[in-house]
Amino acid sequence: MTDIRTVGVIGAGQMGAGIAQVAAQAGYNVILSDIDLARAEKGKAGIAKLLSRAVEKEKIAQADADAALARITPVGEVAPLAAAQLVIEAATEREEIKRAIFANVGKILAPDAILATNTSSIPITRLAQAAPDAGRFLGVHFFNPVPVMVLVEVIRGLATTPETVAAVEGFVAKIGKTTVHAFDAPGFVVNRILLPMLNEAVFVLGEGVGSVTDIDQGCKLGLNHPMGPLTLLDFVGLDTALEILNVFLSTTGDPKYRPAPLLVKYVEAGWYGRKTGRGFYDYSGAEPVPTR
Ligand code: 3HC
Repeated sequence: MTDIRTVGVIGAGQMGAGIAQVAAQAGYNVILSDIDLARAEKGKAGIAKLLSRAVEKEKIAQADADAALARITPVGEVAPLAAAQLVIEAATEREEIKRAIFANVGKILAPDAILATNTSSIPITRLAQAAPDAGRFLGVHFFNPVPVMVLVEVIRGLATTPETVAAVEGFVAKIGKTTVHAFDAPGFVVNRILLPMLNEAVFVLGEGVGSVTDIDQGCKLGLNHPMGPLTLLDFVGLDTALEILNVFLSTTGDPKYRPAPLLVKYVEAGWYGRKTGRGFYDYSGAEPVPTR
């Protein structure tokens, strides 16, 4: 079975950086790659900030934070990923982008290395067609914020070998997270349940049934959710949520996944949530302010 010592992460955005952080904290060497070095270094700088906050709160020792950070090498190309036994792709949720990455990585990937995708919705068996070896390809779906959320969904494509699954389960356990298994169906287990709920919240807002505050307070106080659905959409990214719903709709043809018109409008306006400073809340001030 593949002995994982070095982990490659493709994409240094919020998910990729989170994966790099937890892997480095668990003792893995991490190669954090993005389309240019500046982006990869920005991802590492964000990790440094989170680690130093954890040191301030006395959650981890300074020496452990320093050691974890030293294990992360930011790179602006795929070639250094040849040193990794496990490469996790956490790029934009767009199939053509992921396919192009797999084609590139395929040229340099070590012969026994495993390639995993953090896709939130695209079928693994279909993506495996662009991977160098469908047997050593699978889905590892992390949740945001990665350092906090304990779950990882492990999704096996039709051709994924049991050895590949076992090696990745070992990795998930070593980073202190819990595996649930999902069949290769759109959205797997958790997003299949979550996204229709988030989408429905936008229908409720668009139809004027409740305000942003009514909807979020309602779910927080009435369901004990840590965040209301509109806050969560701003956190995940409205663009990402729309991409996922469109994958559900196109792969199943089931109209129950039709994106709420207001969600589409907000994405068209560039109001993606926290990352653009505006979504269902305005983040330009000290506290988020509801926009409707
Ligand atoms: N990165 C790292 N750590 C973070 C963080 C971040 N972005 N945000 C918060 N934290 C840490 C804090 O440092 C704190 O750590 P500590 O307990 O060690 O001090 C801990 O999380 C709690 O944070 P706060 O006290 O500031 O705030 P909350 O108690 O409100 O918790 C939350 C914040 C953990 C984000 C909580 O609101 C929550 O669980 N929200 C729901 C998150 C969720 O549903 N995620 C799944 C999204 S779906 C997904 O990712 C799938 C994808 O495919 C779409």
